[in-house]
Amino acid sequence: MNEVNLEEEKEPLINLINIYKIYQMGNTEVRASNGINLKIHKGEFVAIVGKSGSGKSTIMNIIGALDVPTQGQYILDGQDVSTMRDDELAEVRNKTIGFIFQQYNLLAKQNILDNVELPLLYAGLRKSERRERAIASLERVGIADKWKNKPNQLSGGQQQRVSVARALVGNPSLILADEPTGALDSKTSREVLDFLNVLNLEGNTIVLITHDNSIAEEANRVVRIQDGVIVFDGPVEDYKRSRT
Ligand SMILES: Nc1ncnc2c1ncn2[C@@H]1O[C@H](COP(=O)(O)OP(=O)(O)OP(=O)(O)O)[C@@H](O)[C@H]1O
Ligand SMILES: [Mg+2]
Repeated sequence: MNEVNLEEEKEPLINLINIYKIYQMGNTEVRASNGINLKIHKGEFVAIVGKSGSGKSTIMNIIGALDVPTQGQYILDGQDVSTMRDDELAEVRNKTIGFIFQQYNLLAKQNILDNVELPLLYAGLRKSERRERAIASLERVGIADKWKNKPNQLSGGQQQRVSVARALVGNPSLILADEPTGALDSKTSREVLDFLNVLNLEGNTIVLITHDNSIAEEANRVVRIQDGVIVFDGPVEDYKRSRT
C-alpha cells in the first residue's frame, strides 16, 4: 500500500509536458512536434531515434534550450525553460548542457585548448582556472598532448574527442549529442560510443539523437519518434525485440 516508486518520485532532469512545435507554411501547418511528453532522470542514457523529417532536430533544439515550443511546458533541472527569453536560454545552455555535434563545431582559427576553454570563458571563469580545467578535460579524452594544434590538424575522431572535452569542461547536468558519429568511420564511431558509455557509467546524463537504430541501441532507453510524436519509449532490450 505504501510502496513508492522512487523513479517516479524524483524530480526528472528533463520534463517535456505536451510539447508542440508548429510551423505555418502558407496555408498548411507543419507539426514538427505534435504533443510530446517525455521525462528523463539524472543518470539515464537515452537515445532519441527517428527517420529523416520525424522531428528529431526539433525536439533536440527544445531539449537543448536552443528553441522554445509553440505550446507546452519544458522544465529543465527545475527551471521552466519554455517561456525564457534568448539571453536567459543562453545562460541555461551554458550552465546546464554540454553539446556534441556531428560536425564538431570547433573554431578553426583557435587551438584545441582555446576551443575547450570557450564554455568557461562565457561562464566568466579566470584564465588560470580555465586553462587548468580545459587541460583536465582534454586529458580525460586522451588528447591533451595535441593542445597546441588547430582543429584541421587532427583526424575526425580526434576532433570529436575535443568536442567531447569541450562538452564536459563545464561539468554540465546534461550531455546532448546530435548524431555524434555521423561523420566518423566505424572504428572511430565505436570509440566515441564507448566513451559516451563510460561517461554515463560515471553518472552523466546523456541524450543521443540519431536516425540509426544500431546507434540508438547503444543507449539504455530508446525513444522513437515519428511524425512529431513518440511511438516507442522503453528499455533497449524491449526496443530490440520490437524490431525483430
Ligand atoms: N523552420 C522550419 N519551418 C518549417 N518546417 C520545418 C522547420 N523546421 C523543421 N520543419 C519540418 O518539421 C519536420 C521535422 O523536422 P526535423 O528537422 O525536426 O526532422 P529530423 O528528424 O531532424 O530530420 P533529419 O534526420 O533529416 O535531420 C519536417 O517535416 C520539417 O520539414
Ligand atoms: Mg535533424
